[in-house]
Amino acid sequence: MRTHRELQTPDSALGYDIRMGIDVTLRATQLFLSAFDAAPEYAGSAPGRVELLGNHTDYNGGFVLTAAVDIRTGVSLRRVSGGMTRIITELPGHQTAHINLSAGPAQLTAETQWCGYVAGVLDYFSPPGAAWDVAIASDVPDGSGISSSAAVLVATASAVLTALGKSISPMEIAVACRAVENGPWVGAPVGLLDQFSSACGESGMALFLDCKTFDWKRVPLHADQLGILIVNTNIKHALADGGGYASRRKECEAAALQLSGGRTSLLRDISLIEYSDGIESVEQPAQNRARHVWDENGRVQLGTSCLESGDIVGFGAQLNASHASCRLLFENTCSEIDNVQAILEHTDGVYGVKLSGGGWGGSVVAVINPTTVDSIVTKLKSDYGDRLSILATSASAGAQGMAL
Ligand code: GLA
Repeated sequence: MRTHRELQTPDSALGYDIRMGIDVTLRATQLFLSAFDAAPEYAGSAPGRVELLGNHTDYNGGFVLTAAVDIRTGVSLRRVSGGMTRIITELPGHQTAHINLSAGPAQLTAETQWCGYVAGVLDYFSPPGAAWDVAIASDVPDGSGISSSAAVLVATASAVLTALGKSISPMEIAVACRAVENGPWVGAPVGLLDQFSSACGESGMALFLDCKTFDWKRVPLHADQLGILIVNTNIKHALADGGGYASRRKECEAAALQLSGGRTSLLRDISLIEYSDGIESVEQPAQNRARHVWDENGRVQLGTSCLESGDIVGFGAQLNASHASCRLLFENTCSEIDNVQAILEHTDGVYGVKLSGGGWGGSVVAVINPTTVDSIVTKLKSDYGDRLSILATSASAGAQGMAL
């Protein structure tokens, strides 16, 4: 199977081609040297992810099946004296941000909003009064449904924990990074899917997570039989803007409260009897949102069993059903995503294809027969056009921290 570097769309404005090929940690280190005229002492790197099954189930306490992918964000840093933390990114159009961690997120402006993720993690783990110089390089495009935000959170956490000599489990890193993303530095009401995938990823493995108990397991993804194709529509989405994501979450919580007679706002905690007796009387659109989440939890369990028993066709069917439910019940797709999904669903060699992540743009993920990748990409480009960034990738290792 060809690598993602060979499959990039060369002229994509938001594509993956711009700087890939040089390791992100090395790029972050080079950026640090040129920006701060000193060498960084620690680094962290963390991957993006694909959501294989379990769309909008995580904050409902449900199940997800996910994988870290071979596209990473790198962070290099050094603890400095004085109160000011300096943060620089290689992304064009961003100045070095000067942040006083003790002064909290109120100091963020429209220009420095982007570094809330990094500052939030530094603030979470650092002792009071600490300050850092930080440089960031990333191959994970933002707003693309591959979770650039989790990658930068978890990479920063991995670097700063190494610098502070603290050792905590990957799951504890994920939980802390989610708290930061939900908290005042960022303010996105997301679940645990993304940070978990980025922190706990493993080469060749999908990850099944119970978002209520935090129990999780690895599920082999046989790369010789099953390839992962990520198709970025380059339609950007945002989760922290109080838009569709937050309103879907409220609708799910309202449905759970109604179905349980006020006992719980988690759809996961609704019993089968409560669901079957009550679902038809839940008003729309909350009823459809709840139906999607209920069915999606079943699809994660079924799809995981299919994968475990080697039934790749059955696994793919769960992805197709998941996407149909997103389109019809959860209404978090958009025409570009639906067009790409529909083309791929009817392309030879594709076992299943669905929206990956929050929705309203970003990427679809397809699980494919790896020997057919060239013909799949050719058909997609001929039916849809060239406005896509396409990566053939595989399940990859999770976050790492290191002393330089
Ligand atoms: C985004 C969020 C996740 C999850 C997905 C949808 O990626 O960050 O927590 O809710 O959307 O499944």
